[in-house]
Amino acid sequence: MKVELNQFSEKHIPALCQLLNNENISKWLLQIPFPYTFQDAEFWINKCKENPEVKKDFAFAIETEGSLIGGIGLHIKSEHSAEVGYWLGEKHWGKGYMSEALKEITNYAINELTLVRITAHVFEGNIRSEKLLIKNGYEYEGFLKKSHKKGEIYFNTKLYAKEI
Ligand SMILES: CC(C)(COP(=O)(O)OP(=O)(O)OC[C@H]1O[C@@H](n2cnc3c(N)ncnc32)[C@H](O)[C@@H]1OP(=O)(O)O)[C@@H](O)C(=O)NCCC(=O)NCCS
Repeated sequence: MKVELNQFSEKHIPALCQLLNNENISKWLLQIPFPYTFQDAEFWINKCKENPEVKKDFAFAIETEGSLIGGIGLHIKSEHSAEVGYWLGEKHWGKGYMSEALKEITNYAINELTLVRITAHVFEGNIRSEKLLIKNGYEYEGFLKKSHKKGEIYFNTKLYAKEI
């Protein structure tokens, strides 16, 4: 089993629509609406193409055998730290794909971007994501009340981080 992290492009729009139009995924993600439409996918692909002077977002399509199975990205928070975010299509859960992708992007953050701290804010109740982070060397740092707001709903989050 081997996942590849590639650039997002127009060819991913149909699979994005199919995989992300799923409340079991979107309910754990701040930026993903439900229902997830063609326009949402198109907006995302255009955003990935933006080329600002100082790059703050690094997004990758997770692929196996040329097919999109999920996404993972880093948002730069400071000169030395970034926040990681990720999702997998539900039919691809439980196969170890995200562990591979998370290892790869963590190494990228440390080795290529020379960051020393990577954080993940996990909505309260997202046990799968917490286990994934712990399995990959991220440590629990604290419980943050109402740290995130999606629409009109506040979420408590659990902060995980990896430092080198
Ligand atoms: C988070 C996500 C990427 C994890 O991928 P995955 O393929 O499901 O991960 P795994 O199969 O490795 O599962 C992680 C762990 O949770 C465990 N687990 C799965 N379902 C569980 C449940 N209902 N209760 C408790 N543990 C559970 C698994 O056994 C596994 O632990 P193990 O490795 O010790 O056996 C995927 O579930 C997903 O995309 N979720 C929706 C989006 C999301 O939550 N993104 C992260 C936001 S912080």
